[in-house]
This record gives sequence, structure tokens and C-alpha cells, in this order.
Amino acid sequence: MKVVLDSPLDMHLHLRDGDMLKNVVKYSAECFAGAIIMPNLTPPLTTIKEIKAYKKRILDFAGGLEFEPYMTLFFKDSYDYDFLKEAKSFVKAVKLYPSGITTNSEGGVKNFDMDKLRGVFEAMSELGLVLSVHGETDGFVLDREKEFVDIYENIATSFKDLKIVMEHITDRRSAVLLEKYDNIYATVTLHHLLYTVNDLLGGSLKPHLFCKPIVKTPEDKDVLRELALEAHPKVMFGSDSAPHPKEKKECNGVAAGIFSAPVVLPALCELFEKYGKLDNLQKFVSDNAKKIYDIQPPKKEVVLEKDEFLVPNICGNVVPLCAGEKLLWRCSVGSG
Ligand code: NCD
Ligand code: ZN
Repeated sequence: MKVVLDSPLDMHLHLRDGDMLKNVVKYSAECFAGAIIMPNLTPPLTTIKEIKAYKKRILDFAGGLEFEPYMTLFFKDSYDYDFLKEAKSFVKAVKLYPSGITTNSEGGVKNFDMDKLRGVFEAMSELGLVLSVHGETDGFVLDREKEFVDIYENIATSFKDLKIVMEHITDRRSAVLLEKYDNIYATVTLHHLLYTVNDLLGGSLKPHLFCKPIVKTPEDKDVLRELALEAHPKVMFGSDSAPHPKEKKECNGVAAGIFSAPVVLPALCELFEKYGKLDNLQKFVSDNAKKIYDIQPPKKEVVLEKDEFLVPNICGNVVPLCAGEKLLWRCSVGSG
């Protein structure tokens, strides 16, 4: 049994830089036609020069694989119209992080006063730049995304022409915004479709399932599954694959981030097959994103075969999601 995907896209991906980039980029570049690349390097990407140079490093390390890195800029309220107009030729989105909320987000937004943010949001609306948002407050960890809903609503109603992507949604209470506002979209990860807080800490603590936003309740997972399995037209797949070296994940003070890139398409096939929804996978992993972002990725057929895939225990110095487990599908190119 086979599934052929036409130009799959990962709409939220962390590739890092240097040796880590060199190690991880193949897992995405082999199985995807393109990806939205997150800008939270150290320091974060805030200039066109840095973005162009980083894109070149990604392509160099991808070594000729057909793969389009769609770049993003780290949100600053100090950007002016002329800068964003120039940036528009090199980036698809501007990624907003609340300050300190996740890995390398210290330079993010501290104050969500709309008057301070108005200039950038108006410029982005006019230029057609997507606002990509890590929507969490610093409140109680299971309610952080829900507490951010007011901010999403405020932005959506104040800037009706701004396309807003709620990144890696996890909470049934933010999912309702998709129906309420025409200009709100979302990405969903693999791990939030598979796991709940019970998997993370209901038994022994699993540091490789620790990420931001944290995995949530069974009810939340069910709502996300419904969105993904039905390929809701405002929802795109975004892995949020976020590699950290093994020693940063197996220690006191574990870094947030799950390295899912080596397993995402096989695991999605398994899930969609289980629920009889394989026909919707193409929309979830490509067609919806093409429409929402108005992009034409390189033509690339990715074949998934129903054949056992033993996930490696380690990829370089990074432990992948499902390490050592047997999956039912494999990518016929690449990491399998
Ligand atoms: C991401 C990372 O490590 O860069 N971590 C995570 O837990 N998802 C950052 C992010 O997307 O929050
Ligand atoms: Zn992320």
C-alpha cells in the first residue's frame, strides 16, 4: 500500500544553525517540498542580510535536495514600513513571540498594547505579510494558550486585513477562533495530535515529549484531531520540530522542543489511516497551506509505503520523537 503526496509542506520548522543545521536539515529536505523556517536563532533573525545568509546555509546543507525554505523574520515593534517592504521579497511571515515564553524568545514582545504594535501590524496588512504567533501568556501552564485568546481577538478585530496564524494550537478554547474570525488560521503539530499531558508526566517523566506549548488534555487532543483529520481549510500541518542536543533534553532544566522531523510523515499516515482519512492528508500537509500562504512550492512527489520503519534511537546528537519505536509507514526516500 502506498500514499503519494504532492509537495508536502511543513509550515513551522526549527532548523537551528551550524552543526545542528547540518545534522537535521536532511530529515525535512528529503520528505518535504518546503517549510516555513522559524527565526529564533541566537541572536534571532531581524535583518534581511541575516535572513539571506541563513537561507543560503540551509540550501547549502540541504545539498541539492529539492526544498524551498520559506523564511521568517523575528517580530520587533520597531520595524518600519520601508524595512518590511524590502523584507517582503525575502520572507513570508513575521513571527511574534511573547518575550521569554519559549526557547530563544527573550527579544520578543513584552507589552501587547495595540498602539505600540499598530505601525507594524498596519504595514504587514498592507504588504500581505503573514503574522505568525506563538500564542501563550506566562500564566498557569495548562491555560497559557487560552489566556492568549483575548490578544488574538484584539489583533484580529483591530487589523481585519492581517492574516494571523495561531502556531501549534493545542487548546480547544483557541480552536474556536478559527470559526469566529475570517483572518485567523492555525498550524497543528504531530505531537499534539498524538499525546496528552498524561503521556508527558502521567507515568515516568518523558523529557522528549516536553515542548511549548505543553501537550494538553484528551479533550484538546480530540478537537485537534478533528481539525487535522477533516483537513479543516484554515488549518495546516506545522511540525514545530525543534531539535536540542541529547544532553539538553536529559538533564535538570530540560529544554522545550520535540525533534519530530524524522517521523512526521510516517506517523501522520498511521494516524490518518487509523481513522480512515488518508484521502484528507494531502490537504492537511500541503493544499491548505498553499492557499493560505499563496505559495507554489517546487513540484515534488513524496511516496509513503506501508512498511515497517524502525525509528533510530539517535540522529547525530538528537533523540527523535518515537525513538526506537516501530512505525507502520516509511518515507520511501530519506530517513527510513
Ligand atoms: C521551540 C524551540 O526549541 O525553538 N520549542 C518548543 O518547545 N516548541 C520554540 C517554540 O516553537 O516554542
Ligand atoms: Zn516552534
